Amino acid sequence: MNQDIRAPYYGELGRLSFSPGWARPEPAMWPAPKPKFRPAVWRYAAARAALEQAGDFVPVEQAERRNLIMVNPIEGNIYATSRNIVSAYQMVKAGEKARSHRHTAAALRLVVEAKPGTYTVVDGARVDMAPGDVVLTPSWCWHGHANESDATSYWIDFLDVPFVQHSEAMFFEQNPAGFEQITRNAPSSYRIPSREALGGGNDAKVVEVAKGALPTIGLHLIRLPAGARREVAKTTVNHLYSVISGKARVTIEGGADESLAVGDVITVPCWHAHTLEADEDVIVFQVTDEPLLAKVGLVKTAKA
Ligand SMILES: [Fe+2]
Repeated sequence: MNQDIRAPYYGELGRLSFSPGWARPEPAMWPAPKPKFRPAVWRYAAARAALEQAGDFVPVEQAERRNLIMVNPIEGNIYATSRNIVSAYQMVKAGEKARSHRHTAAALRLVVEAKPGTYTVVDGARVDMAPGDVVLTPSWCWHGHANESDATSYWIDFLDVPFVQHSEAMFFEQNPAGFEQITRNAPSSYRIPSREALGGGNDAKVVEVAKGALPTIGLHLIRLPAGARREVAKTTVNHLYSVISGKARVTIEGGADESLAVGDVITVPCWHAHTLEADEDVIVFQVTDEPLLAKVGLVKTAKA
């Protein structure tokens, strides 16, 4: 093509919303995953102190939003913790109620600190919250939180909001009653007490919990006695970990080596082989997007 007509030609393509496949600035496909998200860690002690301060000026009317979102430190990201999942630390003070709402995003929380009297109302059922409990609120279930104890409660939220946003299938609704009334006995499936789910003993054990309850999110409890290791191969699955009791060390291919205490969170993006090691007897909570990827045939693991 004559050089003289190239510039107007490409200009006209742009006006027609075409992009010439032969002149793309970046390829659309590549030989293997190259995750944009990075390994990153967030500390419970820092979150707890910052939320404590927020409690002084963020009013009870905003209690359901008094949380600290763990934003993956990559350029342009203002929300997601990993590709498909966001996590956040949340605080509800003694005597507070966080208004009920529902959304198409699936959610769960891992309770870090809560005294008896802390509970979530899920679709009219009271679900008590104790440290180490996992509380589920599947897509479109009403949920509001209450703290009738005499101490502040803290937990870690995990939601598939980044995926739902990407899919543009987001719906959100405030409960017209404000805080939803308790109208039925709790179905036990919404509450998973982690130690009971793991059973007794101190042996290394991995238990999948809430299987199928959330179509996008996979949950595992991992118990490792001091010194034990668990290797995770390079996979397309994105992993997040927190510690329920004890201490764990997470070593990620490429350099990260972090010791995690109770309530700390680490995100391990896809295609990073990594190792969990028990610095002392430890129970680790693992959150992944494996069920989502499995549904579309995208769970792949590197050949050893
Ligand atoms: Fe919610």
